[in-house]
This record gives sequence, structure tokens and C-alpha cells, in this order.
Amino acid sequence: SDHTRCDLMIFGALGDLANRKLFPALYQLERAELLAEGSRVLALARHEHSTDDVRQQIVDNLRQRVPAEEFDQSVVERLVQRVEYRSLDFSCCESYPELNGWRDSVNNNLIVYMATPPSLYGVIARNLRDSDCCSENIRVVVEKPIGHDLQSSRVINDALGEVYAESELFRIDHYLGKETVQNLIALRFANNLFASQWDQNHISHVEITVAESLGIEGRWGYFDKAGQLRDMIQNHLLQLLCLIAMDPPSDLSADSIRDEKVKVLKALRKITPAMMEHYAVRGQYTAGSSEGKAVPGYLDEKGADKSSDTETFVALKVEIDNWRWSGVPFYIRTGKRLPEKFSQIVIHFKPAPHYIFDPDQKHLANNKLIIRLQPDEGMALKILTKDQGLDKGMRLRQGPLELSFAETFAKVRIPEAYERLLWEVMKGQQYLFVRRDEVEHAWRWIDQIITNWQDSGEPPKRYAAGGWGPVASVALITRDGRNWYEDV
Ligand code: BG6
Repeated sequence: SDHTRCDLMIFGALGDLANRKLFPALYQLERAELLAEGSRVLALARHEHSTDDVRQQIVDNLRQRVPAEEFDQSVVERLVQRVEYRSLDFSCCESYPELNGWRDSVNNNLIVYMATPPSLYGVIARNLRDSDCCSENIRVVVEKPIGHDLQSSRVINDALGEVYAESELFRIDHYLGKETVQNLIALRFANNLFASQWDQNHISHVEITVAESLGIEGRWGYFDKAGQLRDMIQNHLLQLLCLIAMDPPSDLSADSIRDEKVKVLKALRKITPAMMEHYAVRGQYTAGSSEGKAVPGYLDEKGADKSSDTETFVALKVEIDNWRWSGVPFYIRTGKRLPEKFSQIVIHFKPAPHYIFDPDQKHLANNKLIIRLQPDEGMALKILTKDQGLDKGMRLRQGPLELSFAETFAKVRIPEAYERLLWEVMKGQQYLFVRRDEVEHAWRWIDQIITNWQDSGEPPKRYAAGGWGPVASVALITRDGRNWYEDV
């Protein structure tokens, strides 16, 4: 039988994540005919509903979220036919045994998706174990945040580890499911052109920007306890940094890739209190405008505590203390209420050792590889050519060798992160999921920054909504004689 056949139990199936991401992703898998015949979904949440009601809710939700041109009633119907609903008190072990009645343990692998607060992961795991609801091929999917520091992440990982082996755990970082992020692996390790240039001999510095135009969107309660450093850098940006910085894995297996990522995390230079001023900037947005509309500041968002010092913006200069990256800073920044939703990585190559062209143009003379993650996924390599025309002499011109995924693969839809990730779980492939030691090494590095901020008592720097963050984040890079790259 099909080895992707599964019983997918979604804990928290009526919640925000399930509505926004999981059911739309399942819909797309159904539409692509990737859901094996016989695969089923058990939706679990606290409240009493009939299966029919929940199916109807799923249909309504999908009608809202799936783009009209991709919406197909017959696909929706196929999907909801697979879904059954049960109400369950997740913390009450007595009600778990009845889940066994739903299981098809002969034909289907069990996937447990915990779309719940992390404090419930251990509870659910233990209750499933105690009610014998498990399977030889169980796959357990959990979401961030895995804790808010190293210690609390250990508590969560210990609780999961008490019941499941690491090979059964699929920790999501949805950035790893983004098409262009996976393309980093292809780019780096399938193109010897880049592979042989990918170090301190040839690269001067790297930039990673993950900008969001959104503000807090009603999530103040969650976000204020986390802040941008924990919410975005600890996971998404450090994962991107690892994929750029890691050594070539010897194969594409999950552990080969994750071993290399861990080596990078271990080599991140600690940012000491004395270094903070030049290495770390945090900001908080004030009132301003976003996409032409006036928007409130962070402290005036709904539910806000006016004295909060939580950051909505972070810029860091990161140094990697190893042979490959010695002396090559990674400048990374991410924030809410920036001018646009826009993520890109820019690799700045070193200039040629001896420059013979117009001295005024010297600043142009280095190649850049630009990897756009979103929107308009693609890559561009900026190279120098001669300007056209008799009167131009040997004037240089910088232009792109460009690959736009949307144009090149015009007929192929770019899948959403959760589609890819759910599909990998169904196949039992772990390489796009985060291993425990990655989470812990990332926290260890993040924790010292948080401690430094706390000890200094310095409030975040203000920036107007709709701008590119506090001026100090510009100084962070101009101090080194460089600029955040702007494509003009
Ligand atoms: C989430 C964060 O992990 O990623 C959010 O919790 C953030 O705060 C989101 O907005 C950004 O993801 P994407 O895919 O929209 O870039």
C-alpha cells in the first residue's frame, strides 16, 4: 500500500493555525492528488460539535482562504469526507482511549499534529502513550515557540522526549518549507561555481532582511511576551543563516544537514555586554503609516500595556568563528511595520584584487548574489559589464543575471510552506524539521543577548511605523563602511 497513507490527528483543529495554514495546505495536497486514498483526518478540539458542523466550518474557511482560481468544490468535498471531529479535553487521560477506536493501525501511519500551546505537548504525548494510542510509525509534529529560553525549551523537549524518539519528532520552522529557502541548498551544493566561492576568501559580508509590513494584528498578548528576537531571530533568521553558512553535507539526509547546521550555531560568536552597542539594535514602532494608512504605535495597539519594552525590530551583526567565515559579518534584521513584506538575502562578494576602471565607479565593483525569499521569489547575480555606446569608454554598468521563479516556472504554482512540510511528514522525511540540539544551541546564543538587554535596562529605540527601523540599525552597518543593500 501507499507508504504515505496516514491517520492525521490534529489537536487544536479549530484554532488559528489550523484555519490559516493546515486546512488550506491539506486542500492543496488534495488538489494535487497527493493525499493517499485511505488517508484520514481526525479533528480534535475542546468544544462539542458534530462532524457535519466542523466539515461545514472547514468548507467556509477554505472558501475564504483559497484563491478563487484554485478553489474547486469537488476537491473540498473529497477533503472533508476524510475529516471526522471529536471533542476532547486534552488534559483528561480518560477520554483518550476512544481515539483508538478511530485509528486504522493496520493500514495507516499515525501523524499527531499538536496545533496547541506548547505547554500541552507533554500532556498530550503522555496521554496518548498511556492510552496505547501509538503506532510503530508515529510522527509527531510540533510548532514553535519551543520555549522562551534555553531552560524552558528543555522542559518542553524533555516532556516530548520522554515519550518519543527524536526520529519521531517533527519540529516545524515554517521558513524551511518555503520554496526559495530549500533552493538555497540546491543553489549552494549543485552549483560548483558558487561552492568554490563560498567563504572568506571571496565573500566580504552577508545581509539577511526579513521585513514585515504587518503590526501585531491582535496578537499582542502572545507577542509581547516574546518580542522579535525570540519570535523571528531564534528560529527563522538563524535557520536562514545556517543554510547560508553551513558546510556541504555529505548527503541530503536529515542528520547530515542538521549536523552541519548545528556546527554553525555552535560557532556563533557570543555578543558580550561590551559588544552590544555595535552588534545589536532593538526597536519598537511608534505611530506612522503602513501602505498608505495611518497606523497606531505598538503601545497603542489593542490590549497593549503602555509600559512595554518589548522589541518589534532587531538588527544584529553576527560573526561566525570558524575557518570558512572568519572576518565575514552577517548583518541580519527583521521587524514589524516596515515599509513592505519583503525578505531577501544578499551575498556581497569581494571586489577584484586590482581595480583598473574609473575611480568614481569603484563602489560598484563587487558582485552580489541576491536571493529573494518573498515576494517575487527568485535570484539575481549582479555582474559588471561595459556600458553601451561610443561615448561611454570603459564605463561600467552593474546589471543582473536574473532568475525569476514565477516567470521561469510560469505554469507551476509555488507551494506554500505548510503544504511542503505536511507532505514531508507524510513521507516521513525529517530534513526540513528542526532537531532538538539546533533549538537548544539557538536559544543558548539568543539568551545571552536577552540577558544583556535586560541587564542594561536600556529601552528599545523608537522607529516610526512604515520606516526601515531605528537609525541605529543603519549605523550598525555603515560603521563598517557598508550599507543595507537597496536595489535602485
Ligand atoms: C511567525 C511569527 O513564525 O512568522 C510571526 O510568529 C511572523 O510573528 C511570521 O509574522 C512571518 O512568517 P511569513 O511566512 O509571513 O514570513
